[in-house]
Order: sequence, then structure tokens, then C-alpha cells
Amino acid sequence: MFPKAGVRCNVESNSQISGVFFRLEVAWPGAVPQPGQFFMCRLLPSAVFLPRAISFETFYIDPGGAKRLSFLIARKGKATEAFALLKKGDVVELRGPLGNSWLTVMPRNPPKPIALIGGNAGIAPLTALACAVKAQNLFHFYAGFRTEKNTLPLALLLTPAAASAVIACIASEAGKPRKKMFGAERVKGRIPDFVNYTGYSAVFACGSGPMLAAIAGHCRQSSTPCYVSLERPMACGTGACLGCAVQTRNGNKRCCVEGPIFPAEELVFE
Ligand code: FES
Repeated sequence: MFPKAGVRCNVESNSQISGVFFRLEVAWPGAVPQPGQFFMCRLLPSAVFLPRAISFETFYIDPGGAKRLSFLIARKGKATEAFALLKKGDVVELRGPLGNSWLTVMPRNPPKPIALIGGNAGIAPLTALACAVKAQNLFHFYAGFRTEKNTLPLALLLTPAAASAVIACIASEAGKPRKKMFGAERVKGRIPDFVNYTGYSAVFACGSGPMLAAIAGHCRQSSTPCYVSLERPMACGTGACLGCAVQTRNGNKRCCVEGPIFPAEELVFE
């Protein structure tokens, strides 16, 4: 199936949160997205860059009835640098929502909370889940960043998640951890090492390949169900180009159609 045309959306705001992260908010007139889904986001004029697959961070309807989407994006290359320069009133083209959702793998009435573990911009699709399912103490949020400096100001990065989830732990691999925030421990190291995996009914995670492989290993050892959201370069987003293939125990699957969320036990981590 070839991609349908995207929707031209006005940029409402674009806040530079730190040297690395920015939050892009757009007016979205289309279907209500489910947490974990993504959009193919294209800069205009469209000839300059291919569209980027980006999971949304928050969706809400403002007091005037307009639908809004936000994306938490890390600068890593020319396209994301160009997204970072967008201003209110500029236009981007979005196609979506695409892919599956965390809601399809949520356990019903879990006896224990669910751990959400995000690395860097991988916190965004987990924030979307915490914001969509407002249940007290259901989600414990773990956030990991490369450097303490990249996380400043941390409060802006995590405020949407903190509104709906317990922030359990914030880790930075480099730099000196600062004081507690949202009541969470601040630690130095890799976030997968600071989770008590047996304390959760399920673990949902998004981040780098090595981080997800480590989390999947911990969950296997503790027999905790684990689902991960994968990031892959995507050209079509609709299953046509096979460019986003993911190796699984049941053969290759398309990240854009069968994913981006997969049971960790099904995946073959490199
Ligand atoms: S991006 Fe083309 S098949 Fe997934």
C-alpha cells in the first residue's frame, strides 16, 4: 500500500528545552492517535528531506476544541536540526497516526504497577501512554539520559509524564547527578540497572537497541512480560518498502505496520 498524502499542519510552538531536545507542537485536524503510535513528519518544501517517523508525546484538545500534538525530538542530524528551527506559523506535513499502540498490550487490572522505561527521546511514546491512561500509581516512570547536561532543564522534559505517572528514577550515564526531582532518585549509570523488575506486572520500554536488549534480558530473568517500541528509519510508513524490517523469531516483520511495539521475547536483538 502506497502512502496517502499527508496533512499540512500549522506549528503552534517549538520550544528549545536543552542543547539536545526540543518540543514541537502542531495543530492536528486528523484522527485521535493512540499512545505509542507515530507520524511520518515531513518538512516543507518536501524535496529537501525524507519524512521522519516520530512517535508523538502528547495529544490534547485545547479549550477552543482544537486538537494538538506534541513531539519531543532530539537533534541528531540535518533533518532534526531543520525541525528545531521551525517557528509558530510554519507548516509541516504529517501522515498518521501509524503503527500499533501500547493499549493493545496493556494487562487488564494488573496486580502490580507497570514500569515505563525510556531512554533519551524514547521517553516520548511512554509519556503519551501515561497521559492517555490517567490511573493513579499504575505507571512508574524510569528515564535515562546520556549526560546530565543534556537533561537540563529536566523538569521541562518530564513534566508531562509527571502529571500522570510516579517518576521512580532518573539516570544519567555521565555527569554528576543533581538533587531529587518529582521525588525521584537521581543516579549515575544506565537506567536498566536501576529497575526492580520483579516489582512490576509488565515493563514497557523505548530507547536505544543496547538499552532495550538489556531490559529484555532482565525481564526474561525475572519472568516479567516486556514490550518494547523500536525506532527504525522509515521511508513509506505503510508496509510497502520493507525498509524497516525487524528480525524476529517468526521471521522479519515491518516495524511500521506490525510495530513499532513488539513483545521483547519475540525479537532477535543484535
Ligand atoms: S517504512 Fe516502508 S515498510 Fe516500513
